[in-house]
Amino acid sequence: MVTLLSRGRAALAGRPGANSTVTTAPAGIGRTDRHEGGPLTTVEARETVDPFIPERDSRWYRAMRHFWHPVAYSKDVAEDQMVSGRLLGERILVVRHQGEVRAFMDVCRHKGAAPSLGWVENGCINCPYHGWAYDMDGTLVSIPSRPELNGVLQVGLVRYLCRESSGMVWVSLTDEPWGDPPGIPEWDDPIMRWQTPPSYDWATSSPRRLENFVDFSHFPFVHENVLGTRDKAQIEEHDVWREDGALRFDKVFVEPNVDRMKEMLGIDEDTMSVRNWYQLTVPGSISLVRTFPNGKRYALYMVTAPTGPATCRNFWHIGADFTSTSDDMDFLLEFEYMVLDQDQPVVESQWPEHLPDRLSAETYVKVADDITLAYRKWLFELAEELEPN
Ligand code: FES
Ligand SMILES: [Fe+2]
Repeated sequence: MVTLLSRGRAALAGRPGANSTVTTAPAGIGRTDRHEGGPLTTVEARETVDPFIPERDSRWYRAMRHFWHPVAYSKDVAEDQMVSGRLLGERILVVRHQGEVRAFMDVCRHKGAAPSLGWVENGCINCPYHGWAYDMDGTLVSIPSRPELNGVLQVGLVRYLCRESSGMVWVSLTDEPWGDPPGIPEWDDPIMRWQTPPSYDWATSSPRRLENFVDFSHFPFVHENVLGTRDKAQIEEHDVWREDGALRFDKVFVEPNVDRMKEMLGIDEDTMSVRNWYQLTVPGSISLVRTFPNGKRYALYMVTAPTGPATCRNFWHIGADFTSTSDDMDFLLEFEYMVLDQDQPVVESQWPEHLPDRLSAETYVKVADDITLAYRKWLFELAEELEPN
């Protein structure tokens, strides 16, 4: 019989100094829901499940440097304006000049102030502290307090690769990033109406945030009577596969059709079957397209960027081809905010906040956790390839 730890006990088990007993062994790869034999002793269990690898040394976290991550929305970076962000513990400055975005470490080479707090003038980034000016390649060109040193002192801002895609500014901290910033197939579809809400920060690692998005078995509990009911908690078999650089899966849910949706969609039935088509691109983006019985579509796109080992900033767009007013979009957005408010405290309670480096550190059940496991396996495979040591 499968014995699963309750969340509270699981959180305590193995915490340094905690007096806990673990009543079940974690599942390993290939035996995701079954443990043969008796319970492990506390010491055995700790040795097996120990997820307390110092988070900064986690291989997947180090591997995150090899990917593109968003740091800002394109619309928020106006001409000759700067925006600050954070990525993998580093402060990032994004500036737009002559239409092109560029990214630098947001640390002045003089005394470390944030140039993003300064101003852009004559094609130069000016630090607010002592007015040092850097050109758009990051080269120091002016020291107001010692002009005779202009062009003599050979220092510059650290520059990063920077690109715009799908309404976001993406940055890579390495010169040869893995892959490209993922696109959104529906982004240029003229009949889709898009809205870009502000990004939001959660106190958890970016993989934990992403997994929450694609975890169906929490719906009846965290989103009871909104996305599911407890009497239908069982998850049915569904395929999960890798194709064209994305993890793909789709599911049809029978959902209640509320009055406002009936009006917008022109569907009178009280329940309807909705196809949910997911495409997950490692390390942190997910596209969900929901297709209603009349072919109308609702799209939700989210990218989670690791601002630190246990913090993330989440960028998102929502889109629909059946809304006609901004009130309609606001209704859809309010729904998303309700779902986020329900998710956040539970996801932020997951411990450790970072993803344990070993798959066996947590317990998976078949079908319900297939997507989680497929995602982690892929992430860890890439981490091994990109950070072999
Ligand atoms: S710290 Fe930037 S000019 Fe002094
Ligand atoms: Fe959720």
